[in-house]
Amino acid sequence: MNRLERMRQKMHEEGIDAYVVLRPENGRYLSGFTGGEATLYVTAEKAILLTDFRYIEQAKGEAPEFEIVKTGQDHFEALAEIGQQAQRVGFEGDFVTFLNYEKLIKGFPQAELLSLPDLVSYLRAVKDQTEIEKLRQAVKIADDAFASVIKTIEIGQTEVEIALDLEYTMRRAGASGGSFDFIVASGVRSALPHGSASSKKIQLGEFLTMDFGAIYEGYCSDITRTVFLGEPEEKHQEVYQVVLAAQRAGIAAVAPGRTGKEVDAVARKIIVDAGYGEYFGHGLGHSVGLAIHEGPNLNMREERVLEPGMVITVEPGIYIPDWGGVRIEDIVLVTENGCEVLTQAPKEFISFE
Ligand code: GLY
Ligand code: MN
Ligand code: MN
Repeated sequence: MNRLERMRQKMHEEGIDAYVVLRPENGRYLSGFTGGEATLYVTAEKAILLTDFRYIEQAKGEAPEFEIVKTGQDHFEALAEIGQQAQRVGFEGDFVTFLNYEKLIKGFPQAELLSLPDLVSYLRAVKDQTEIEKLRQAVKIADDAFASVIKTIEIGQTEVEIALDLEYTMRRAGASGGSFDFIVASGVRSALPHGSASSKKIQLGEFLTMDFGAIYEGYCSDITRTVFLGEPEEKHQEVYQVVLAAQRAGIAAVAPGRTGKEVDAVARKIIVDAGYGEYFGHGLGHSVGLAIHEGPNLNMREERVLEPGMVITVEPGIYIPDWGGVRIEDIVLVTENGCEVLTQAPKEFISFE
């Protein structure tokens, strides 16, 4: 089954006769259109892509399964004309703004509107071969950038300079951009799980956490490495080894048939047993694809079972306020028997002057 057929089957299972797609990555996944500003309208018979003058030719080339309809900047009037027969209309309730929701109500006065935010992302979770190849390349670009930038890091550089070097190196290697706002956090800032790169200069005696990734042909990678600057104390080594052990155990637990909750528990137990449980306050991982964060997740609530073809991060961390923190993050591909680790950058404790 192709993507549109799987979408229609899913819509049938959910009991809806039409679905409106506004989220760009969902639109791209179903139609192939990379231009961003399009609305899709899918029913059992119709597959329509609404876009404006700027994108018509591109849409015709990229979305051959869709009927391309030209609209003004506001797609909702055209939607209302097209969707007069629909009775139960699904939409992305986590993406539609209040103003657009009001327009949907006005456009489909006859229909019941149902927020089904995960419908397309559910389909996106299992990647096909072409997607896996793009993800492999996105991961490789980030791995190579780490190998290259780590050689140039110098005491006294700012976190922003390191983030820029990573981005520049990845763009030179074919990335269309960074996959999110990079985290480069040193010293006590490494205890901030999402500490964006700042003007702070890196110094001896500190952890340096770098969390970054590339977008390659629309697909996102995500890697974190933490290195030590200068001579570590025993506690630096200990915390690092606990995170590494948890990360390795998490990877070993990834397999089809396991839930995200079960995998999270395996890694979390190692950190809790070592006495650092209160300092690991986020989930173990998330899927990646056309979006940097997508489902399913590895966390304490995730009930969805892993399947071959899912691509997911494993990223435990320990963050001790006013001291520092460590996170190690790889991307893995769920296989028939377990998983393949796509990230190749070394993750043994590295310390350097
Ligand atoms: N870049 C944030 C994360 O690793 O999920
Ligand atoms: Mn990350
Ligand atoms: Mn991540």
